[in-house]
Amino acid sequence: MRLAVLASGRGSNLQAILDAIAAGTLDAEVIGAWSDRKDAQALVRARDAGLQAHAIRPRDFADRAAHDAALFGALDAAGPDLIVCAGYMRLIGAEVMTARAGRMINIHPSLLPDFKGLHTHQRALDAGVPEHGASVHYVTAELDGGPVIAQARVPVLPGDDAGTLSARVLGREHSLLRETLRWIAAGRVRLHEDGVHVDGQRA
Ligand code: GRF
Repeated sequence: MRLAVLASGRGSNLQAILDAIAAGTLDAEVIGAWSDRKDAQALVRARDAGLQAHAIRPRDFADRAAHDAALFGALDAAGPDLIVCAGYMRLIGAEVMTARAGRMINIHPSLLPDFKGLHTHQRALDAGVPEHGASVHYVTAELDGGPVIAQARVPVLPGDDAGTLSARVLGREHSLLRETLRWIAAGRVRLHEDGVHVDGQRA
């Protein structure tokens, strides 16, 4: 399974994928990393792993559609089986997402459908929920609204702030993403009209 990774920042999820492949626990290949930011640490991680890494910056294009066309044109040319949004922080046009339905996933730091969008950890704290977590889902035209494949849960503890809570969630994101990719690589994940079915997993 050929993976193209999109990331805007730190790239710890990209690193988790690279480490799993290097350790022989994920049967996949990262064919490159793409970012909207030149200074993304994710690009450094990709280059350190000997991969192609590209920054395609919105400011170099007239509008979002032109940026999307350049970015996703480059991604398509690389020929991935799956596009993995791992901390890609920019809105993507609906057409781009619809055209890649079932071939693009995202990791989002909340238990979807709760807390779509930004600042999920602070919003979870403000809402007083006892549990928080992360979700991996297929990307559709609705922001953070596509079918969920898998989730990881963590407790919200007394005294948590957005920093402690996000660190606890991130600690689970890496294994969640690796495990989800293993399922997809093994052909166990099926996208139906009523949601995602994972073969071998009880509902
Ligand atoms: C993660 O929390 C991910 O869920 C969110 O952005 C963050 C990216 O972290 N979409 P990293 O760049 O992978 O370290």
